[in-house]
Amino acid sequence: MSKKRILICVTAGIAIYKVVDVVSKLVKKGYELEIIMTEAATKLISPLVFETMGNCLVHTDMFHKGHHYEVEHIEIAKRADLCLVAPATANTIAKLANGIADNLLTSTLLAYTKDTFVAVAMNTNMLNNVATVDNINKLKNRGFKFINSKVGFLACNTYGDGRLAEPVEIVEEIDRYFIKKDLVGKKIIVTAGPTIERIDPVRYITNDSSGKMGYSIAEMAYNRGAEVVLISGPSKLNISDGINKIDIITNNELKNSIEKEFSNSDVLIMAAAPCDFRVKEQSKEKIKRKKESFNLELLPNEDILSHFGKIKENRLIIGFAAESNDLIENSKRKLENKNLDYIIANNITEKDAGFNVDTNKVKIVSKEEIIDIPLMLKSEVANKILDLI
Ligand code: CTP
Repeated sequence: MSKKRILICVTAGIAIYKVVDVVSKLVKKGYELEIIMTEAATKLISPLVFETMGNCLVHTDMFHKGHHYEVEHIEIAKRADLCLVAPATANTIAKLANGIADNLLTSTLLAYTKDTFVAVAMNTNMLNNVATVDNINKLKNRGFKFINSKVGFLACNTYGDGRLAEPVEIVEEIDRYFIKKDLVGKKIIVTAGPTIERIDPVRYITNDSSGKMGYSIAEMAYNRGAEVVLISGPSKLNISDGINKIDIITNNELKNSIEKEFSNSDVLIMAAAPCDFRVKEQSKEKIKRKKESFNLELLPNEDILSHFGKIKENRLIIGFAAESNDLIENSKRKLENKNLDYIIANNITEKDAGFNVDTNKVKIVSKEEIIDIPLMLKSEVANKILDLI
């Protein structure tokens, strides 16, 4: 993936400043870039900014002296593995839809034969104009891939649809494009985050799970072509639009949501940290401060994974084991008791592993073997886990 070459076509939308960040992020990921700016775009940001951030050639003029290639627009078009138009203005979209080639950018795109992403950014009325709607539909029908604009505050001091997608989302789309789609046709349920069991209207029992591991698994599974259902307890994390996200709070809701998706699923990956207990009598009123001590009686919650382990049939089920001691022994016991294919053994007391950090260090335990996964990003651990499928 690291040597893929992306042609970035920059047109004159005010969101151009965000595209500098897109360029920076793509360079950090190891992509090679080549950039074309329209003349109007160069009035908003100097080509030197893109040249420096992209560490690449920036072309601006069809007819300038000292060409880099023999027939410039044909050669630039030939060299790219993927093209990104960002920000894509209504004007350039209209030209692309109608085969107009009146500058270096549009001429190159007319000669370009591989896939093009179009990251839309414009005023809401321009976006909703029938002409723009028709042009976008025309391009979609021809196979152009659109990165839709978002709703929010716009530079024209209005609120509505038309904001350029965030740089991180644009980069994710590009990453996803190049990833091998080896999970196409698989429906994968991923659970993530904590559950909450209420004590009274202002207090509850929960745990330290942030959801990072489960969200990484869901995102990577989606990138690899799977149909993903993410069932998540409360979490601040974002997830791609293409993932079916179901929000839950309690253990009961978690179990019911899995139940609804289980029958036609192929894989269940249980990265959630469900509460093991709930209070026997949840108070409807806020419990008042007391001077003396008092007891809260807790009841055991159902082991959700064991329930689905019992009815797994030919599905693949992967659990997690959060342990502070006897990692392998405890994990093997859970693998057996819950009838799992694999358990991801997680020593939560190790530095940079477990709850609330971006990295993890795990052992993949099955009946046959134990695979050691050294410290790496949770997104990389996610891919190791998905390789098991
Ligand atoms: N799990 C579950 N339902 C619960 C508790 C845990 O489905 N009520 C799942 C978790 O999502 C995880 C696996 O079971 O995939 C192991 O969870 P863990 O907290 O490590 O173990 P427990 O079974 O809760 O046992 P203990 O807390 O005693 O270690």
